Amino acid sequence: MSRRKLHGLRAIVTGASGGIGQALAVELARQGTRCLLFARRADELAQVIEQTRAAGTEAIPLVGDVVDRASRAAAIDKARQEWGGLDLLVNNAGISASGDIEGESPEVLRQIFEVNFFAVAQLTREAIPLLAEGKTPMIVNIGSILGHRGIPFTGAYCASKFALTGWTQSLRAELAPRGVEVLLVSPGTTNTPLADHLVDQRVQLPWAGMKGVPAEGVARATVAAMKQGKHEIVPNWRGWWMLVAHRLLPSFVDRAMANLAKKGA
Ligand SMILES: NC(=O)c1ccc[n+]([C@@H]2O[C@H](COP(=O)([O-])OP(=O)(O)OC[C@H]3O[C@@H](n4cnc5c(N)ncnc54)[C@H](OP(=O)(O)O)[C@@H]3O)[C@@H](O)[C@H]2O)c1
Repeated sequence: MSRRKLHGLRAIVTGASGGIGQALAVELARQGTRCLLFARRADELAQVIEQTRAAGTEAIPLVGDVVDRASRAAAIDKARQEWGGLDLLVNNAGISASGDIEGESPEVLRQIFEVNFFAVAQLTREAIPLLAEGKTPMIVNIGSILGHRGIPFTGAYCASKFALTGWTQSLRAELAPRGVEVLLVSPGTTNTPLADHLVDQRVQLPWAGMKGVPAEGVARATVAAMKQGKHEIVPNWRGWWMLVAHRLLPSFVDRAMANLAKKGA
């Protein structure tokens, strides 16, 4: 496994205006990584820029939507103009929704895939030529434990994260000969405003309010995995146990999920 020094590397971090992306931006700033922070909310981004300055390495904001081709091109152009290249791409921006599959609108299903999967695939494809010339290059995709096990009332989100898991593994194999490493981070429940930003909310999730891990812990585990050149991590012991239970006792987990669905119905 390679040992990567993050000091001085050049990174794009999507979804850096809050939650896990914000914590990652601050943790990378502590390591001396130069970051371009890409998200839609300018005011929130400006606050995160302040935090990166306080942490030791001031980041650059890029206000834009990952779904928008021009915004993605602007992010890559900015990295080229400011730094002459790119070493790290952190695909973190994500959205979710709550509701049963039967009642879900096709628009919501597509919106979730646009942000959580298609934008990641497109931005990554567009960044590969620059990354391949970078120093110890790495792509970091923030997936979810729900990209390994489906649960009720978040079917579109689970499906988008499953798509990301498989695609990330294909990407890792394809980019290995070019020296670009690929890390998949699969967090479990994390204390962030994700649930406040649901694009559709038709049921009260039975596990809403469940205590998660701090976003800063996920960020520290991600940065450690980047340094170590790891391929996949699950930075949450409760989430890790759910995946072990799913692997060993899938019928038991299916029954538990059906019981949860009854509570939420
Ligand atoms: N929280 C959890 O329990 C949990 C668990 C597993 C995985 N995850 C994953 O972790 C990642 C971060 O989520 P979070 O929990 O930190 O949620 P969050 O606090 O809601 O943050 C989501 C970030 O994505 C950005 N974003 C959303 N749509 C975007 C778009 N179209 N273009 C650009 N940026 C966009 C948001 O910024 P703007 O609104 O400013 O654009 C925000 O900065 C997501 O991929 C999520 O699926 C979260």
